[in-house]
Amino acid sequence: CAKFDDNMRFDCFPQANANENDCIKRGCCWGVPDHRGANIPYCFYPPQYDTFKFLNMTEDKHSITVYYEKARPSGYPDDFEIARIDFKYLSDDTLQIKIYDAENKRYEPPLPEIAAVPRSVNALKYRVQIKTSSVGFKIIRNSNNITIFDTQDVGGLILSDKLLQISAILPTDHIFGLGERRARFKVDMDWEIFALYNRDRAPIEYQNLYGTHPFFLGMEPDGNSYGVFLLNSNAMDIITQPTPAITYRAIGGVLQFFVMTGPTPRAVSSQYTALVGRPFLPPYWALGFHLCKFNYLSLNTTREVWKSNRDAGIPFDVQWNDIDYMKNANDFTYDEHNYKGLPEFVDELHREGMHYVVILDPGVSASEKPGTYPPYDRGIEMNIFVRNSTDQPFIGKVWNRVSTAFPDFTHPNATQYWLEMMTSLHSKIKYDGAWIDMNEPSNMIDGIKEGECADERLPYKPHTPEQLLRSHSLCLDARHYGAPHADVHDVYGLAEARSTHAALMEIRGKRPFVISRSTFSGAGRYAGHWSGDNYSGWKDMLMSIPELLHFGLFGVPMMGADICGFRGNTTVELCKRWMQLGAFYPFSRNHNSDSSSPQDPASLGPAVVSASRAALRTRYRLLPYYYTLFYRAHLYGEQVVMPLFYDEPENKLLYDIDEQFMLGPHMMVTPILHEGANTTIAVFHGKQPWFTLAGRYLTTTGTAEMDENETVSLKGGSIIPLQEPPAHGPVSTTNTRSMPLQLLVVPAHQGSAMGQLYWDDGDSINSYDEKKYSHIEFTLERNVLQSQVVWWGYGVPSVNSVTVFNQTSVISVYLNNKSCEKPNCQFTYIEKTKVLHIHNMNLPLGKPFEIQWL
Ligand code: NOJ
Repeated sequence: CAKFDDNMRFDCFPQANANENDCIKRGCCWGVPDHRGANIPYCFYPPQYDTFKFLNMTEDKHSITVYYEKARPSGYPDDFEIARIDFKYLSDDTLQIKIYDAENKRYEPPLPEIAAVPRSVNALKYRVQIKTSSVGFKIIRNSNNITIFDTQDVGGLILSDKLLQISAILPTDHIFGLGERRARFKVDMDWEIFALYNRDRAPIEYQNLYGTHPFFLGMEPDGNSYGVFLLNSNAMDIITQPTPAITYRAIGGVLQFFVMTGPTPRAVSSQYTALVGRPFLPPYWALGFHLCKFNYLSLNTTREVWKSNRDAGIPFDVQWNDIDYMKNANDFTYDEHNYKGLPEFVDELHREGMHYVVILDPGVSASEKPGTYPPYDRGIEMNIFVRNSTDQPFIGKVWNRVSTAFPDFTHPNATQYWLEMMTSLHSKIKYDGAWIDMNEPSNMIDGIKEGECADERLPYKPHTPEQLLRSHSLCLDARHYGAPHADVHDVYGLAEARSTHAALMEIRGKRPFVISRSTFSGAGRYAGHWSGDNYSGWKDMLMSIPELLHFGLFGVPMMGADICGFRGNTTVELCKRWMQLGAFYPFSRNHNSDSSSPQDPASLGPAVVSASRAALRTRYRLLPYYYTLFYRAHLYGEQVVMPLFYDEPENKLLYDIDEQFMLGPHMMVTPILHEGANTTIAVFHGKQPWFTLAGRYLTTTGTAEMDENETVSLKGGSIIPLQEPPAHGPVSTTNTRSMPLQLLVVPAHQGSAMGQLYWDDGDSINSYDEKKYSHIEFTLERNVLQSQVVWWGYGVPSVNSVTVFNQTSVISVYLNNKSCEKPNCQFTYIEKTKVLHIHNMNLPLGKPFEIQWL
């Protein structure tokens, strides 16, 4: 072994106790690295270390198939004898690469349902290069011949029964994604090793969390971008190193990759969600503010919290209850003593135009008297529980603290079972949405009773902090429909989200709203997510932004963090700042733990109330814009929340910014994140002027100091549809949706701007497919504002005002070629602020309009 650059070392002995003897026995090189950084391997592959050798290859217009045969033992038991790689050109910009055992069928996750049928292929944006002299391949971008994924000559392709490993050199060390992890948004390439295996654990850096998304976005040196997704649901490690390179080590299944060539980050998002499923269109009410706490402990307290926040003028749409509404923490029951009157309370919420969400855990009690608890009895009858090695229901323990059986959501009858159970609860309590928690799945004992799981016997164990993967979950050998738990574990929550989404749709006949703690790639199609059991601290508030950006990238736009923090007690200052940030999370919910003091805005006094009211009123004003963003996400896979660099992919200075975020193409959110601060410095990008919502000019490229009422800034070139919430009385999306529309016009330097509005009844299942929606586009060219009706299938409130920033002088205004005069039109122009305000109109949107000023 010649002397090796540290960065070209790919770990040949990743298990504990690497030593020279065993390393050499494996045919690898041993040597002290130049830099003794953590995780730089001493034992590494020589460049030509081929575990397989080329056999043959066939190629046609849509695919390449290559066969390899085993050339040497990998050092792990049961290497494949014949390996096969299929390259399928799914479209001009999406390539599927499947590396598997040519002779024995192996597990492939049933979810997400990938649309892997080749689409039309005309002008491929990539090509695949294969050598016959060694194993591995290169994926090359055709436009500039840059290799974006290079697995040749790095050694270490392992295809064995319980370890599949592949390394690739990347063209960039600017990569984003790979979660769920608590980390800054840009991935650390400095020899980071992290495990992905869904786990019920409060967010901790470097540890596996609730979800698995083996997807990254790479930003190439010239600003092109691409995406790589590994579809594998077995526990895995991902290793990054400064080469730059990535290694995947999964303990089962097959290595199935999808490479998407962008070339913009927006295109990558759209290509990725086309594959794993576009995000669901939320009901309009779900964009309102949500309030919850673990252990209100009674309906009285729930009602008091609900009422005091409404009375305090907090815009508010959805009241939630945690597991304390249940009887003995048992799913599909409610505590008729402490929560007596809950059904009537929910009816009252509905009368007030509000909605109600309940928590459901996947596990159901296995310790009730036979005949008294249908969720268990019916599950047995339908044979849909996960089973243990003796084919009995697998029994763990969750909140009821006695015993729990787990529905197998991968079972074909599970949705029917879940529908029956949810229907029975709905016949008592008319809940509107479902919060599915603990679905990693979490089990308060490790496996079954200690000793009852088969040994984990893993030739390679991913770097989860516990010794055993079954820790706080199910045994790896627990039996699901056609697969052991080890294969299914990471898609369990996704499968539950799918069943819950389907059940809600059936029961209510309206658009489902599901929030799930466990997620896997493609979860956004069925559910939103929140970042789990964060802490009431400043750092946790700050980290919520990368969490938001991550899930935006993963195609789960309905995302938020527990506002004011879940664990520990919040403070007035922290909660005020967190409400000012959380008001702009796509999923905006204040929730905390049973042992923490109340933190709903009203309970924390006037400072939190007035800050929350102001921030949420701004959110509610912006909801027509938010809703349009969700429609674009649902239809085209655009992101609701994005990092700043989506606007300027070649601007590397933006890659590290994850304390601000874009909300759609026109808006940026810059919260105050630090204790004691009253203002914050925002970084502005691009070539257009930026303004506050109130019309204050900030800067073009550069920085500006913003105060607490200026969390949101607008980019020149935007037209934003708004609705002012009612000035008096309780505010909800229901009463805000019927208010007149307003347009806020923010011209670019050259005086142009554009924007759009999607509108429907906000709650029907197929509004888009049945064409019961309206879609209006707005454009500004210098001093002429016009609308185009792209589709008119649902009534939209009329526009009563238009506000235009940055106008130099205005003496007359024309509305549809008629002079703007009372009573149908009025205008004011303020020279000092350069704002033109046209109001008192009643402008229907069903026909195009034109407004001109001179
Ligand atoms: C864990 C969840 O993360 C948390 O939000 C919830 O309050 C508790 N489970 C109790 O249901």
